[in-house]
Amino acid sequence: MLKAVILIGGPQKGTRFRPLSFEVPKPLFPVAGVPMLQHHIEACVKVPNMKEILLVGFYQPNEELNKFLLNVQQEFKISIRYLQEYSALGTAGGIYHFRDQIVAGGPEAFFIMNADVCSAFPLTDIKIGFADGKTVLHYVEKPSTFVSDIINCGIYLFTPDIFQHIGAVFQKNQQDMLLEEPSNGWHRAEAIRLEQDVFTALAGQGKLYVYKTLSFWSQIKSAGSAIYASRLYLNQYHTSHAERLATNEEGGPKICGNVYIHPTANIDPTAVLGPNVSIGTGVTIGAGVRVRESIILHGATLQDHSCVLNSIVGWDSTIGKWARVEGTPSDPNPNDPYAKIDSETLFRDGKLTPSITILGCNVNIPSEVVILNSIVLPHKDLNRGFKNQIIL
Ligand code: GTP
Repeated sequence: MLKAVILIGGPQKGTRFRPLSFEVPKPLFPVAGVPMLQHHIEACVKVPNMKEILLVGFYQPNEELNKFLLNVQQEFKISIRYLQEYSALGTAGGIYHFRDQIVAGGPEAFFIMNADVCSAFPLTDIKIGFADGKTVLHYVEKPSTFVSDIINCGIYLFTPDIFQHIGAVFQKNQQDMLLEEPSNGWHRAEAIRLEQDVFTALAGQGKLYVYKTLSFWSQIKSAGSAIYASRLYLNQYHTSHAERLATNEEGGPKICGNVYIHPTANIDPTAVLGPNVSIGTGVTIGAGVRVRESIILHGATLQDHSCVLNSIVGWDSTIGKWARVEGTPSDPNPNDPYAKIDSETLFRDGKLTPSITILGCNVNIPSEVVILNSIVLPHKDLNRGFKNQIIL
């Protein structure tokens, strides 16, 4: 029997995803039409003998999360539960805290998956190739100089023995804490990180193996990387979910390349969509609208002849007639100086680096203006065009 654990983090983890993570926890942000986590769950349920999926994080239980859990339980007919850490315990601390729940029922092994990665998730192949002899000799997390062209994709398969190794780090941290002077009567909470605290020690002991994959993979840290991840998943739909891809039909809009359209969206037949476009529930798209490389979230309205390129249009936002909302793609292209899709900072030399344009929820863009490379926080009524700005 197998289980899977998805590390979903918590509110202070999704900061690079603002302003979109104000409205919905980042793991539930739609990528290629479905919540980010659903791609993980779909991969898990395909693994033979998968009995339970546990989401571990430090979000307060909230309406969106509960609704999502209910929906996926019903759809996939498998036990999916959320286990909440009392604070951020780190990528190993959380699973250690809930080790009894994870090993309950006696799974022979369990997967751990980072929520913020997008991948083909070749889980069954990982299991089959588990011990094909490629052991990890040396592990460095976020190396500052070149050590290898093999990267950790944040998807693991562990036997329950892993808890002994995490336990050893836990005990050591406890002892260190006893020796430490408590400040204000409190000991600092000690997080345990799988990568730095556990893998670095396990490397070279013949206990940590590599599964090398050539299938697609990307991180989803910033909102810009959600557009890139959408492109990868939409492309995968040709083999996994062809029904999710829009096709050119009589009386329907013109579709170029891979496009997802929610069945409740209302789209004028003269609109042209794609490639890499995801249209959410209840979106209205008027005559002559052009959308490319963008995510349009539920309830948004794109009025006649507006144009949206390399952008994310927030929930219930409206773009006026003939307006143009445009961003600069931030794909991981090593020849492009702006291509850091997951860069820590939005600025370089005091200036906003060109990136995708993001409209927060309920933003109104007037007719006939241009919004270029800008981030607009939620609930703004703009009265003119903007270029390279964060509109607070
Ligand atoms: P950076 O975010 O740039 O540090 O990259 P990283 O890939 O090393 O990320 P990190 O290790 O912080 O997170 C990997 C995954 O684990 C993400 O899906 C996070 O949401 C999740 N995660 C991180 N910290 C915690 C934690 O304390 N508890 C839980 N449950 N999940 C966590």
